[in-house]
Amino acid sequence: MAGKIPQEFINELLARIDIINIIDSYIPLKKAGRNHKACCPFHDEKTPSFSVNQEKQFYYCFGCNASGTAITFLMEHLHMGFIDAVEDLASRVGMEVPRDANNSLDTNKQSKNLYQLMELVNKFYREQLNDSKNLKTACKYLKKRGINKETIAEFELGYAPPGWDNLVPVLGKSDESKKNLLDIGVTIKNDRGGQYDRFRDRIIFPIRDQRNRVIGFGGRVLNNDNPKYLNSPETPIFQKGQELYGLSQARKKLKDFHEIYIVEGYMDVIALAQFDIRNVVASLGTAATHEHIEKMLRITNKLVFCFDGDTAGKKAAWRALENSLPLLKNGRQVYFIFLPDNEDPDSFVRKNGKESFINPIMQVPLSKFLFSSLSQKINLEILEGRSEMINKTLPFLEKLPSDPYKDIIIKELSKITRYEITDIKNQLSKSKKSDKKIINKNITTANQNKGIEKIRWLIRCLLHQPKLALEVTDTISLSAIKSPGVNFLCGMIELIKKNPDISLAGLLENWRDTKFEKRLFELASDEEEFKEIGVTNEVFMDAIDGLIDTHQKKFETFKTKTSPIELTEEERAKYREMQKSSED
Ligand code: UTP
Ligand code: MN
Repeated sequence: MAGKIPQEFINELLARIDIINIIDSYIPLKKAGRNHKACCPFHDEKTPSFSVNQEKQFYYCFGCNASGTAITFLMEHLHMGFIDAVEDLASRVGMEVPRDANNSLDTNKQSKNLYQLMELVNKFYREQLNDSKNLKTACKYLKKRGINKETIAEFELGYAPPGWDNLVPVLGKSDESKKNLLDIGVTIKNDRGGQYDRFRDRIIFPIRDQRNRVIGFGGRVLNNDNPKYLNSPETPIFQKGQELYGLSQARKKLKDFHEIYIVEGYMDVIALAQFDIRNVVASLGTAATHEHIEKMLRITNKLVFCFDGDTAGKKAAWRALENSLPLLKNGRQVYFIFLPDNEDPDSFVRKNGKESFINPIMQVPLSKFLFSSLSQKINLEILEGRSEMINKTLPFLEKLPSDPYKDIIIKELSKITRYEITDIKNQLSKSKKSDKKIINKNITTANQNKGIEKIRWLIRCLLHQPKLALEVTDTISLSAIKSPGVNFLCGMIELIKKNPDISLAGLLENWRDTKFEKRLFELASDEEEFKEIGVTNEVFMDAIDGLIDTHQKKFETFKTKTSPIELTEEERAKYREMQKSSED
């Protein structure tokens, strides 16, 4: 958490200041409905999309997605450090910043250690690649793949030698460093309390974050074994859904990005770089997430997703399309490249060269991909087909933010279907209204099956309407649930109970510098949620009770099964956990 300054002080400080006055002292704000508005100080614009909410003590820009608390504002706008920002705010309301002697910068120091250890592990793997005994294996493999020395050096490729115990003897001499090796995910605990190397006999690709710190590794086998790639697990310093492989190298080479190519593999990034296509990143074995796309759109206005031409590639492209839609405004553009069968960017560029790859002819605009996919198997010559097309397209249009882009897409749909533009717009606003009703009514059942989604939803409710937490009386049953996220949820409820007037900003600051910070900011910046509040105490409590009920019912079901043999391995583990927590 926030270093030397006690968290209670930060909570108290945020309760006393007013973000409106603070931001207004730098950029004049105008009241507009529930919010205050201005032209965004974080990007160029002519019409104001920077919005500050007094109740939430939170700002958000609908144009560039900058968001945060008063502390964040000072840090980002005036480039202050965290402590300076807190001191600045405190002096405005005549508070003295206390320093807690016991609460040293432990967590910061701890992650600093982890980053340093990552560098040492990286160095170890790189040295192994150059070790003479690996010339015939690892070096030969990279040569066979056509990767030259400069590329190896730039991307810091390394080699994890065979054997189970290479890292500990070199980098795990003390108990603390042994534990740190486990924490950064390069070793795995064994049954006997020892640990062994995660990566063995693999080419190593270090993954650096935007601040150029090594945060994880990917490792490829040298033959056809499975799994082909092994990646670092999620660790305190590595969250896969957020990181992009190659971004740090690309930023070093390029000042401005006209566009960014997003490919699937480590090898693709590296091969394209070797062919002097430098604006390339890979999402690490996952589909491009909302976070990924947001991150790239802060750097450039044009994204080009590049996928294999097979069914899996098409599927991944579709997911990227869905995740991009809500962000398409202010001239942002998304394109897709579908490569021929059995080709990936690596093989394609080697065969056809740079110019073919970057030829704009290759790029299918998102609108074209959307319409051609949706109209597949539909006969637009007949009325029924055109009506089907409208119904299939509406849900996607709903995801688009209002922007000229949306208007043009609506116009195009109108052309394809010969359905009036105003009628399409009417349909859109109708379904939006009925959606909202359904959300409020059925939120409990809708989320029943998706545990983690439901918990995210509950957390989001609390961020936007912290007072809902005061309704929760049965915290004991809730905290007995050992599902992911529940612990966090309970923590937030407790915090609000202790500080009933806490704002959204106050909540967020409690998790600054933790692995939750980013996700919480995202939940806080959710545009729809920011514009309108609308969860009643009843709906919220239904969801909480539903969570507790489901958990208790599951427990009962387990109890009625007569012998543990009837349970699956997973159920048995769950049962043991529940039994334990019911005994606590
Ligand atoms: P690919 O199989 O397309 O990788 O998987 P690639 O980079 O082209 O590898 P080569 O050319 O066969 O060496 C795309 C990405 O999916 C993830 C990796 O991030 C990989 O780069 N992946 C793939 C895994 O995480 N595990 C796997 O077993 C396979
Ligand atoms: Mn490949």
